[in-house]
Amino acid sequence: MVRLAEILERTESLIERLHNTKRNNRIILNPDYLDDEKLPEEERTSVLREIFNRNIREKQLTRLAQHLTPILDGCHPPSLMIFGPTGSGKTATLLHFLSIFQKVSAKRGKLLRYAYIDLSSPKTYFSALNELARSMDDSLRRYRKGIPVSLMQDRIVNCLLDFKGFFCLLIDEADNIKPNADEFLTFLGKTLPRKVNCRIVLIMLTNRLDWEKTMDPRILSFLKKSDLIFEPYDAADLLEILKLRVEKALDTDKVDQGALNKIAAYASHETGDARRAVELLVKAVKVAEETSGRLTEIEVDKASMTLEIDKTEELIKTLASQQRLTLISCYKALGSNPKKKLSTGQVYQSYASLCESDGVRPLTQRRLSDMISFLDLYGLINARVISHGRYGKTREISGALPFELINRLLELKEHPS
Ligand SMILES: Nc1ncnc2c1ncn2[C@@H]1O[C@H](COP(=O)(O)OP(=O)(O)O)[C@@H](O)[C@H]1O
Ligand SMILES: [Mg+2]
Repeated sequence: MVRLAEILERTESLIERLHNTKRNNRIILNPDYLDDEKLPEEERTSVLREIFNRNIREKQLTRLAQHLTPILDGCHPPSLMIFGPTGSGKTATLLHFLSIFQKVSAKRGKLLRYAYIDLSSPKTYFSALNELARSMDDSLRRYRKGIPVSLMQDRIVNCLLDFKGFFCLLIDEADNIKPNADEFLTFLGKTLPRKVNCRIVLIMLTNRLDWEKTMDPRILSFLKKSDLIFEPYDAADLLEILKLRVEKALDTDKVDQGALNKIAAYASHETGDARRAVELLVKAVKVAEETSGRLTEIEVDKASMTLEIDKTEELIKTLASQQRLTLISCYKALGSNPKKKLSTGQVYQSYASLCESDGVRPLTQRRLSDMISFLDLYGLINARVISHGRYGKTREISGALPFELINRLLELKEHPS
């Protein structure tokens, strides 16, 4: 009996202890401010109101205001096409701007509505129309297929029929309609304006700087659009973005300034993507909560390493079968020796024997060489071209990833050579 009581008490104290450590280590006070992108649009807009750092996008906000303020005097501005790399704040800036602009217009007695459609996962023409109808009237259904496109168009017309003001339509990643975006834009830019009484302003966002080049010139001509560029953030911008977020979301007493500097530096070295910076911040804070209870540069380094591994894992999972076989052949031939270097011929030998044991028909050495270039491009191996002057060029292939990682991801042991 005594023993049982003792066991119970020990478990109780274990629970208490863990709970206390967790509480002491807690850094995240308000998780919504960390992943605004996962929130529904309305909540996202209200969270953004507090964490959006407008100072950094002052130039773009000014241009937006210059472009759209004629609406306040009843004039109809042309469409707007907004270019910028991913994570440069296009979506955040536009959502922030339009929600405020709507308020200002209402104060002035001008009728302004806006709708937001997100095409960040590719859509067909039909499902883009469906999204649009739903963004204007959320009681509408989401159809897979089975009803004609014209019916979908009629629904959109119906949603706008009684509206006589200005209608801003924000289309996020507007180039992402497959097989082609032209039909959608023709409908929005040409057909729809003729069927409704409101005045439509299209605002299209895209990550592709060359999108315009692939567009039908006729579409460009009736869109009569203006352009706006979002350049990538630099380290100082990212630091400002992070600071504001940290104040809202985290227990600031447990966050070192050095850690934030480091995150900003990492993200700006890569592509200046604010999304990556926020992602790294979240990961680092989670690492800190599980270990030291304080966010320092050490936690940032650890988090950056795990993110890197996650990315590699993702990439390897999506390789096509021949690419995967090539990757396995390289690492099998390299073995666990980090300094070893191989020629294309050596990789080909390893590849050929792997194909034989897997019962796969091997590609030619020339095609294998293309596969190697591909893997090099994605940083899964290093393939340096070495010039021997007039004796031509050879390739020197070496490992780019730690052997333990590659061993785990590719299960190398399953393929005896
Ligand atoms: N100026 C900013 N202030 C605060 N957060 C920002 C800012 N710019 C971008 N972000 C954050 O970075 C992430 C990506 O931004 P987003 O606007 O979606 O980029 P894009 O649409 O250009 O790919 C979001 O979580 C967003 O909240
Ligand atoms: Mg976006």
